[in-house]
Amino acid sequence: MKLATKVTELLDIEFPIIMAPMFLVSNEPMMKSAMDSGIMGCFPSLNYRHEGEFEKVLDNLNDYKKKNNVSGNYGVNLIVQKTNPLFVKHLQACVDKKVPFYITSLGSPAEVIEKAHTYGAKVFCDVTNVEHAQKCFDLGCDGFIAVGQGAGGHAGPYPLQLLVPTLKKHFPGMPVVSAGGVASGEGIASMLALGAEGVSIGTRYIACPEAGVNDAYKNAIVDSKMKDIVMTDKISGTPCTIINTPYAKKIGYKQNWLEKQLSTNKRTKKYFKLLIQFRGMQKLEKSIKPAGYDTLWCAGQSVEMIDEIMPIKQITEKLMTETFDTLARLRKFAVKEAAVA
Ligand SMILES: Cc1cc2nc3c(=O)[nH]c(=O)nc-3n(C[C@H](O)[C@H](O)[C@H](O)COP(=O)(O)O)c2cc1C
Repeated sequence: MKLATKVTELLDIEFPIIMAPMFLVSNEPMMKSAMDSGIMGCFPSLNYRHEGEFEKVLDNLNDYKKKNNVSGNYGVNLIVQKTNPLFVKHLQACVDKKVPFYITSLGSPAEVIEKAHTYGAKVFCDVTNVEHAQKCFDLGCDGFIAVGQGAGGHAGPYPLQLLVPTLKKHFPGMPVVSAGGVASGEGIASMLALGAEGVSIGTRYIACPEAGVNDAYKNAIVDSKMKDIVMTDKISGTPCTIINTPYAKKIGYKQNWLEKQLSTNKRTKKYFKLLIQFRGMQKLEKSIKPAGYDTLWCAGQSVEMIDEIMPIKQITEKLMTETFDTLARLRKFAVKEAAVA
């Protein structure tokens, strides 16, 4: 069975799920499994930083898509912030290889939209409020990823129960994909009820054999509860969700006085942010490798709902069965209510 929405049509997929881009987690095997499962797999270009690596992955994914008659699709997440030193190179590679879908985050998506539209690719932009959404809309984006409270990574300030309908009200007709806190079909159905045409799911997909992170991280996703998720400024300078491991407690969650001065001072802030991001990236990278012991693991509050490590295909099938069951249950409920009236 398929679940057709504006997003499935636009992105050429069977189910309205985007496997969210996750720094250091998303990889080529995950993208292939997502395509086999009928969903959109998305990965950050920055997961491939060595010379020629990113281009090779794009070639492999295009080949796989062509040869295997897949029912899903793939896309690339570009950090459009000025501090991303590989942005220009990675965008050019995406255009050369005709990447079908983009998610932009942290900055102006203008250049991505302009280049992607030259060959018919679609661009959705991460937004956390109406003001940012308006800028992306004016630049001609194809849809919004509404990043709400409780999301893994850089969560938004507003609950999705407000953000999704607010975006629908201000931008009728624009596809909205909700991001944050969903790890069950009941969660997907609730987002569809709010007006979203798709759901972007990150944390649930970390606990799969395909993910390129160590087993300790995957087991921590299964073992943690929502009370174990805290925010830290220590990784990128912007608050980010992590599991509250002993190492996270030891290094603290806030920048100290000097770090704060350096990151707000006009002359130093650009360079200091770069340094913080570089150091944070190194810490995260150490934590995901085998025998990484300085554990700094990014995850969202939906860890509460995750009990098992499962292949991507199985996770997706379970999510879709639960979604269909929930939609059927709600339909029955509505009919009963009408009969009483
Ligand atoms: C480990 C991890 C890494 C992430 N890295 C990125 C990233 O590189 N770029 C990005 O736009 N979003 C990133 N995100 C956010 C996700 O794309 C998505 O918005 C979020 O995971 C959705 O919330 P959920 O984790 O509750 O499903 C990351 C999230 C996690 C959990």
